[in-house]
Amino acid sequence: LTDTYTLNNGEKIPVVGFGTWQTPDGDVAEKSVIEALKAGYRHLDTAAVYKNEASVGRGLANSGVPREDIYVTTKVWNTNTTYDETIAAIDESLTKLGLDYVDLFLIHWPNPAPIRETIGYEKRNADVWRALEAGVAAGKIKSIGISNFRPHHIDALLKTAKILPVVNQLYVNPSDQQEEVVAYNKAHNILTQAYSPLGTGEVLSVPALVEIANKHGKSPAQIALKWSLQKGYLPLPKSVTPSRIVENGQLFDFELSAEDIATIDTLHGATRLTSDPDQTNF
Ligand code: A2P
Repeated sequence: LTDTYTLNNGEKIPVVGFGTWQTPDGDVAEKSVIEALKAGYRHLDTAAVYKNEASVGRGLANSGVPREDIYVTTKVWNTNTTYDETIAAIDESLTKLGLDYVDLFLIHWPNPAPIRETIGYEKRNADVWRALEAGVAAGKIKSIGISNFRPHHIDALLKTAKILPVVNQLYVNPSDQQEEVVAYNKAHNILTQAYSPLGTGEVLSVPALVEIANKHGKSPAQIALKWSLQKGYLPLPKSVTPSRIVENGQLFDFELSAEDIATIDTLHGATRLTSDPDQTNF
């Protein structure tokens, strides 16, 4: 869990992160963050819209693990569509987290509904990105990246970006492999982070995954996460259950064979596919 990838700006990022999407604010979030840090995770992923930044920050502060040993990511929400709003959002997230810097700040969605008929994603993302770049210059953010971006959103952003995105965080799991975007990320030296690497739990009962798990004496969750790692992605499993938090971090004492990977590669579409980021209602 302390292994790292090196980002395109030279910063190092722990290869597995602890996801907190759908983790309720308050005690649950605080305690699960403490459990995760106790289990050895050194990378926490939250977002303004998860409404749990304050509890995640409390968990971090009360864990006993030094701040500088923990990689913290948060995200700008869709309602922030201008430079000034984004500058304010950076400060708000830092205040809630109780931190004076975050390691990584992402644009959460590329084409939120509120701007689709007005300023358009090209201008909105260019302005939000400029604010994130200012956050880097001010020492409030170490690295900046994107989430849910498709190739056309990346192309548009790169026209004005002075700093390259270090990651693109996507819904990626054995049942939704996002091959086109993942290849695009790779071609641009952008690391793919995988949120919902367990397909929000749905992929865990896919028979082929269960079969591979049984063969290795591992759980289906561990197989899905190992597939993500062996593909070169950075999985962000979410759990509020201590035993699962531990389980999801035990990924380094086995390897999937090329044949296992090839089998999992055929599972695209086995359960739900994510929605088109240009069509979301939020
Ligand atoms: P819980 O948080 O109640 O433990 P994803 O990371 O793909 O979004 O998946 C998160 C979902 O999968 C949550 O419902 C979580 O439940 C569940 N989950 C997380 N880890 C495991 C595991 N090792 N085994 C079974 N279910 C898991």
